[in-house]
Amino acid sequence: ASRPAPPAAQAPAAHGETATGHRLTIVYGSQTGNARRVAERLATDAERSGLAVRLLGADAYPARELKHERHLYLVISTQGDGDPPDDARDLYAFLTGKRAPKLPQLHYAVLGLGDSSYPQFCAIGQALDARLAELGATRMLERGDADLDIDTVAEPWRQQALAAAREALKPSATVTPLRPPSTAAPTWDRDRPYAAELLVDQRITAAGSDRDIHHFELSLEDAGLHYEPGDALGVWPRNAPELVDEVLSTLALDGDKVVAHGGDELPLREWLGARRELTRLARPLLAAHAERAGDAALTALLAPDRNAELARWTGDRQVIDLLREAPAAWPADTLVAALRPLTPRLYSIASSRKAVGDEAHLTIAHVDYLHRGARRFGVASHFLAAAGEGASVPVYLERNERFRLPADPARDVIMIGPGTGVAPFRGFLQERVAIGASGRNWLLFGNPHFRSDFLYQLEWQRALKSGQLHRIDLAFSRDRVGARIATPESVAAPRKTYVQDRIRERGRELYAWLEDGAHLYVCGAIAMGKDVHATLLEVIATHGGRDPEAANDYLNGLQQEGRYARDVY
Ligand code: 2AM
Repeated sequence: ASRPAPPAAQAPAAHGETATGHRLTIVYGSQTGNARRVAERLATDAERSGLAVRLLGADAYPARELKHERHLYLVISTQGDGDPPDDARDLYAFLTGKRAPKLPQLHYAVLGLGDSSYPQFCAIGQALDARLAELGATRMLERGDADLDIDTVAEPWRQQALAAAREALKPSATVTPLRPPSTAAPTWDRDRPYAAELLVDQRITAAGSDRDIHHFELSLEDAGLHYEPGDALGVWPRNAPELVDEVLSTLALDGDKVVAHGGDELPLREWLGARRELTRLARPLLAAHAERAGDAALTALLAPDRNAELARWTGDRQVIDLLREAPAAWPADTLVAALRPLTPRLYSIASSRKAVGDEAHLTIAHVDYLHRGARRFGVASHFLAAAGEGASVPVYLERNERFRLPADPARDVIMIGPGTGVAPFRGFLQERVAIGASGRNWLLFGNPHFRSDFLYQLEWQRALKSGQLHRIDLAFSRDRVGARIATPESVAAPRKTYVQDRIRERGRELYAWLEDGAHLYVCGAIAMGKDVHATLLEVIATHGGRDPEAANDYLNGLQQEGRYARDVY
């Protein structure tokens, strides 16, 4: 591994006992690695200050130990729709379930991570914080709810958590020495991205498509970013200069004015271009802006029971739209403080190093739409689409250990990846071909139209012909030609065909593959992931002769064995 292991990460057992005979347990539930990173930092600090620490992923935490646990910090993220991260599903179910034990001996604190542009912001952290109190545990400090700019909340929370832990678990005089500092070569990471050259930018949807999907190839020459299929690449974007100008002129602010914030002094134009989120609207800014604008309707929209409405309202609006639709004045420094820090975007890598060498390929939908006649873009997809070949793109590697090909190459794989969800599966197939894996490969792909949106069509067809891909099932949702029976209703409002319809049609075969030990992968939109999950349960019930509960156990079992992995966004 290129990332030096933090001191406690691979040491589930405590390093030594403190004077009180207690240790601090830190458990994280993490989908993309952010919660893990915060937890690791906390563990390192706590260990440095002489505490006995044990750091565990939620899936490695033996829930029955909770009854004996005394000091527990939980760092956990919330996924898109208010779900726990995959690695914390069991712990979450155990704690929130009827059979959870009373925990009067437990002292705890929770840090939630989330994205405030979703209605269920930090819902999992909140639920666990409340639930642990309900089970009789004592809260050591207030919960933190960290937004995408994680450190704004996580950093002070970590300081407080450390102080509280030191207070509760007085460090012993004989501190177990730390392991010597790692001698591994320094590598690129989120805070120190690698400047990758953009080698290729190719539009892979054809004319007439309503999507603008690009295939990018980035050079990782000598960077030592040794990714595995399933990993993601983090991209640090910049906001478009035209967008920054529009914000400056709307607010009548001078882009050259130097603004000091959080220890940095930069011209306002640079703050807005490289350091602040302009393309997503989050609640705190909306609240501050509503107050400045004296906009009662906007304030009313922020009521806790109007989450769904608010999500719709913010769905196609960006900061600039708010500034234009509800005018209010913002001084430069107040604006910089109110906007969220810009964060990198993660994309599943669409290649295998064994096939492409020191390159990483990405499959990205360029977010490009009109809002009330104004053209709006997604920050990172537009940054890449506008960069041009030869440009330099700051990137880093984000590992995803939960989305891995089977260790045994003889196992079959079923890959369900509609839209840009197909990306990791291009990498999977490249890898399987490169290592000469003997297991079968089955791809299920969907998109609006066969003619314009069949991503990587030639590659899949070639692989099919040469026997590298064993089966492909396609669902073109807006093509009518496939409709077998034309009734007046189906012509007027044809039912869409999605990948889950193919799963249902091929249910018997899919179940047989699973019974043969196949690994199952799903990548793509959150809603698709849910519908596919439900359809898989249906297929397992029908073809496995199971009742719904047994089907659920079967699928959970696959997940626990690492044979059912999801990457939904
Ligand atoms: P649609 O846009 O025509 O509704 C990639 O985005 C493909 O996934 C498109 O064909 C899209 O269809 C389809 N899609 C949209 N929602 C879906 C869902 N809930 N389940 C499966 N596929 C879906």
